[in-house]
Amino acid sequence: MSKIIGICGSPNGKKSTTLFALQKALEACANAGFETELIELCQYKIAGCIDCSTCKKELNCSQKDDFTEQLIPILADASVSGFIFASPVYFGGITGQLKTFLDRTVMFRRNGFLFANKVAGALTVGRSRHGGQELAAMDVIHAALIHGMVVVSDAAPTSHFGANLWSGIPEGLESDAVGIETAINLGINVARHAGK
Ligand SMILES: Cc1cc2nc3c(=O)[nH]c(=O)nc-3n(C[C@H](O)[C@H](O)[C@H](O)COP(=O)(O)O)c2cc1C
Repeated sequence: MSKIIGICGSPNGKKSTTLFALQKALEACANAGFETELIELCQYKIAGCIDCSTCKKELNCSQKDDFTEQLIPILADASVSGFIFASPVYFGGITGQLKTFLDRTVMFRRNGFLFANKVAGALTVGRSRHGGQELAAMDVIHAALIHGMVVVSDAAPTSHFGANLWSGIPEGLESDAVGIETAINLGINVARHAGK
């Protein structure tokens, strides 16, 4: 079965608003018939890329951390057809956790563009109504394009830059109906394209 992986870049574990929204998107992928897998980056110890060049020769890294030991095999699975990269907005961009993860994925580019043509969607959550959700989405989109991935929007009728949510809404993120609609629509659209 084809698989879609959700990557959560929040440090907040189970109380993360980003995790809540990402699960909505992944549920939509599952409803479309895909196997889904959730990777919460806060559960892993991942060091920053040190430009050691090991991965210019092989799909490996000189740093023997959780990315190398645990995540490379999951990410390299040929049945993976799509990714949803999710992050809280930090200073108008993605978290350091997600940036660090994305930098380490350069090995997949250097070893035959192994992510090329896989589908990518961006999901971002900010505390402010207009706190840089779309800018943070661009961080994901830039990385996905550089991998040669197929970046998709949340599609009609909401179609913009993926899923963008507002956690500062007074009644709580669960009541951000507009944002949650973008999360569900992103999941549906990632699945639609991953199935092609
Ligand atoms: C260091 C830091 C920087 C932040 N910068 C922004 C920001 O630029 N814009 C915004 O809307 N929210 C910002 N926030 C708030 C988070 O994006 C918001 O609380 C989000 O819902 C946290 O997601 P999580 O619950 O998944 O961890 C920031 C929070 C932190 C800790």
